[in-house]
Formats: sequence, structure tokens, C-alpha cells
Amino acid sequence: ALLFVDASQGRLIPETLFGIFFEEINHAGAGGLWAELVSNRGFEAGGQNTPSYIDPWATIGNESFVTVSTDLSSCFERNKVALRMEVLCDSQGSNTCPMGGVGVYNPGFWGMNINKGKKYKVVFYVRSSGPVDLTVSLTSSNGLLTLATAEVIASASDVSNWTKVETVLEAKGSSPNARLQLTTSRKGVIWLDQVSAMPLDTYKGHGFRNELFQMIADIKPRFLRFPGGCFVEGERLRNAFRWKASIGPWEERPGHFGDVWMYWTDDGLGYFEFLQLAEDLGTLPIWVFNNGISHTDEVVTSQILPFVQEALDGIEFARGDPNSTWGSVRAAMGHPEPFDLRYVAIGNEDCGKKNYQGNYLKFYNAIKRAYPDIGIISNCDGSSSPLNHPADFYDYHTYTSASSLFSMARKFDQTSRKGPKAFVSEYAVTGKDAGTGSLLAALAEAGFLIGLEKNSDIVEMASYAPLFVNTNDRRWNPDAIVFDSSQAYGTPSYWVQTYFKESSGATLLNATLQSNFSSSIIASAIAWKNSEDENEYIKIKVVNFGSSAVTLKISVDGLDKSVALSGKTKIVLTSDNVMDENSFKEPKKVNPKTDLLENVDKEMEVNLSPRSFTSFDLLK
Ligand code: AHR
Repeated sequence: ALLFVDASQGRLIPETLFGIFFEEINHAGAGGLWAELVSNRGFEAGGQNTPSYIDPWATIGNESFVTVSTDLSSCFERNKVALRMEVLCDSQGSNTCPMGGVGVYNPGFWGMNINKGKKYKVVFYVRSSGPVDLTVSLTSSNGLLTLATAEVIASASDVSNWTKVETVLEAKGSSPNARLQLTTSRKGVIWLDQVSAMPLDTYKGHGFRNELFQMIADIKPRFLRFPGGCFVEGERLRNAFRWKASIGPWEERPGHFGDVWMYWTDDGLGYFEFLQLAEDLGTLPIWVFNNGISHTDEVVTSQILPFVQEALDGIEFARGDPNSTWGSVRAAMGHPEPFDLRYVAIGNEDCGKKNYQGNYLKFYNAIKRAYPDIGIISNCDGSSSPLNHPADFYDYHTYTSASSLFSMARKFDQTSRKGPKAFVSEYAVTGKDAGTGSLLAALAEAGFLIGLEKNSDIVEMASYAPLFVNTNDRRWNPDAIVFDSSQAYGTPSYWVQTYFKESSGATLLNATLQSNFSSSIIASAIAWKNSEDENEYIKIKVVNFGSSAVTLKISVDGLDKSVALSGKTKIVLTSDNVMDENSFKEPKKVNPKTDLLENVDKEMEVNLSPRSFTSFDLLK
């Protein structure tokens, strides 16, 4: 096979081509990127009714010593449920409390990860019928080993009304499966609410779990689409993500039950935190908001105005002046500077719904009137025929088999170059070709992405989905990053993303492949400047999707005569078996391997392993 690269001319790839899509699915945020250790911190997880579910909270001590229930006595208006703990035993007298006292514990999201020497801020609200003597501790999963502890002692008058307690615990031991305990040996009635435990060590103190943050930062995403997906729609509208309920002091947020992915979130990772995440990643936020449509119910267009106002308010919250109504709320949360919100998506996968087009136009016109520069993304697919409504971008999603996605590298070849551009905001190989993250799936995605790179005059943005999975709650397979309380690894699909981190904003060079294997090989070439060493590189990426090795002759033409190409590296992603996956046990089984590239010249012969993805990085 022959690959001709013409380095004399090229076309600029959009600055925003490759980004990420974060959805609150698989406990990606709650129990994932958001570092809060307590699950169901407000005892609200059953909804606003009593008795609420206190799950996964559980009682320490049997009913002759302590009884636990919930009532609606909280001091927080939007989350009235509080925990009532009646302690029947005492340190003295006939009904002596068991050793260590009685109380409640929270195991977090399948265990809290506690590390020796690290500090954890515990905050909770308490009220009592008398004096309080509480032990706050982080312990092993069975409570027998104490990793960190503090005493909270208060007089009756101190705690006759709701009182905030804050303490920092320093761990003297480690466990990836720890729990938080609140225990006492003093008789009386204690109410507890909004119990939080946060590691002090999060990204910039902003609440993001460091190593998960780093994994996404490493792929240098140029945009962050959030907060879903189906999560934005809800199975029912009443359970959809609504931004106003997710901002302000964390204690006052009501939280909500995401009824598509079927779990409760306290909404600690709310609208503000998503915007902060985008800023911390140095990437552009793309906000997907609910357009009055869920999976099963819809607001008719004649009644959609409150939703339109909610979207306008959300934009004002993100980028309004700190003196504006909603900009001032953002400023009060510690971010007077506007966030760089340039794109919004009106709903998710709702194009075929009865009220979509009507609702869409109401949102579109109102937003364009108030914010003419905002790029608006429609849910309707404009890749095969023109849209019948105005839009800056159209959303395109595809989940399919490996061979089908590989062949979809040509999907946008025939798309009209006029009209709105494509935002491929969700794509992945799914089903038996993918398992929970195979090499086969990753190779097909690599081929598809090369196709998008080549079509980046019409494809403006693309993101893999889903990004994260907590291995204890796999709602969707496969995903790019797998984690539990203490470990994380990238699936082969994640590693494919790292090959494209230089593409956005680079120059796409003309690369022509001549081959008998043209249905199983695809290649592209870019020229890019590394801001770290100021050098210019040519990166040639080739997927060999077939099961035979291929000798490829690469010829780089059109360089200035004085320019000599010199060797750099060759990065290969392959494995013995195309269905190989990574795991906690073998996190780097399928992982890019870097070698020095020898005998580099303007004409050179390289070998492509069967079922492989290779990049050749040449220094210009
Ligand atoms: O990525 C998982 C889901 O797939 C998203 O929530 C939805 O948009 C799509 O159907």
C-alpha cells in the first residue's frame, strides 16, 4: 500500500473538533468525578415524601439501643427530610450503650477511598433535645478499624436549633472501602441533615477527583458537552435535570432522582460545577438543556415559555454581568467573571417528538434575540437532507457495530457543504463487538474519527460516549474510563482519543492512500505546532482494520527542500486478540506502545500490524 502526503497545502481543522461528552450516567459524577464521599447526604433519596429512603445509610446498634427514622423537620426549604435518631441507651444506667456507641454510618458509593495522611472535611447539620456528644469517624468497612476520628461536643442550648458542624479529619490509615460513622453513647433525640465528607485534595479544591480529572485533561478536550443525554430529558419531565435546582449552597439543593439511569443524585455536581469543570479543563462548555420534552411527556409549544425563560436565565447565569439577576448568583458562588459559554443544545434526541419543532423555534428565536453570538444545536439530523429550521449545528449520534462504524468514516463525504455543521456528540461501537471495551471497538472508532478529521470542513465537533463508568453501576457498555472508589483505567477507546489530542486547530494535509486493502485501511495526516517545544510535527495516523499485516510505503511530498524530516516516534495500539480489553488487573493490556521511528525519510516503508492503530510522528 502507498500513502502520499502532500505537506505543501492543507486546510485548518476547527479548534473545537475533538471534545468530551460528560453525562451523569453510570455514577459518572455522583460517586465518580465529583469527589463527595457521602451518598444521599440529605436523606432525601426517596424523594420529598416521608418516610424517605435513607439507603445507603444504615444503623449501628439494635432497636433496644437506637431507633432511626426520617421526618420533615430540616431547616432547608427545598429538602425538608431530616434523619431522626432516638438514642435509648446511655453511657451510664441500666441500658448501657454497646462499646463504640450507637448511630448511623454511610458506606459512600460502594466504599469510601480514604488515604493515610490525607485530610477530609466533614460537614453536617445537627439539632437535639439535649446536649450532644458525637463521634465522627472514618472507619474500615465493618467499623472495627478507626482511620480518623473527631469528637463533637455541644451544650443543649448550642444545638436546640439546627447548627452547622464542620471538622477536618486526618486519616491515620488507608482503605478503599471505608465508611463514615456518626455515633454516640448519650441518651436523647438527635436530628441530622446534609452530612458531607469531602477530601480536601481535589482538583484546585473545586471538588473534582484528581486522577479522573487528569485522565480527561490528558486527552486535551476542546469542549465539554454536559450534563447528558437522556439525563437531561428524564423518563418523566418531573425527574429531568433542571439547572436552577442544582445551584447555590450545596446544602440547599434538593437533589433529584434520575429516572433514566435510575439513581439519586444530590446534585453537588450542578450547573455551576460543570461550567467550572469546563474552565478548569481549558475547554468550552456546551450546555444541553431540557426543551420541555422527556422520554414520555411533553410540554406543548403554547405553554413552553417558562422553559424558554429558564434557558435564558441559565445563559445569563453562565455569562451575564455579575450585576445581572442571574450573573449575580454566579458571582455569589465565587465566580464573578463570566464563564465562556458559546454553545447550547436545545434538548437531546428529541427531533421526532411531537412538540420538538414548535418548541425548538421558541427557544431558538428567544436565544438568538438575546444572545446573537451563541451557537445553537438542533437535535435534528442534517447530514442527509437539509434541516427545515434554522440552526448553527445539528446533533448526530451513532452507536453501532465495529464494521459499520469503520465504514462510516465516509459518512460525511457526501454531506452538503452548505447549511449548519455537524456535531457528532455521541458515537461508539456497542454490542458484542465492544463488550465492555474491546480493541476491535476502538479500532473502528479510530477509523471513524479519521473520517471525521477528513470531513472537518463540515464536522465541527465530535465526542465519544459515554465518558465514565463506575464499575459498580454499569448502566451502559462500553465507556471510555472505568473506575471504582480508588482506581481507574482507560478502555482501548479512551486510548484512541489520545491520538487525536493534537488534531483540533491543526492543519489537515492531503493524504491519498493507494491500496488493495482500501476497505480495511484508512489514514490521515496533520501538521501541528507543539507549543511546549515550539517544533512543528507531521502526524500520520493509520488504522489497519484487517487481519493481515500490511507494508505501507509513505511518501511525504511538498516540503521545503531544506526541510529534512527526522525521526520521532511511532505509537501503536494493538493486542494479540482483537477482543482484548483492559481491566483493573491488567489496566494497560491494550495500550499505546511508543517506539523510536528509525530511518525516517521523505519516502519510507513501515509495517502495519494486523488490527492496529499507528501514528507516525515526524519532526519537520
Ligand atoms: O450515551 C448514552 C445515551 O445514549 C445518552 O444518554 C443518549 O443521548 C443516547 O441515547
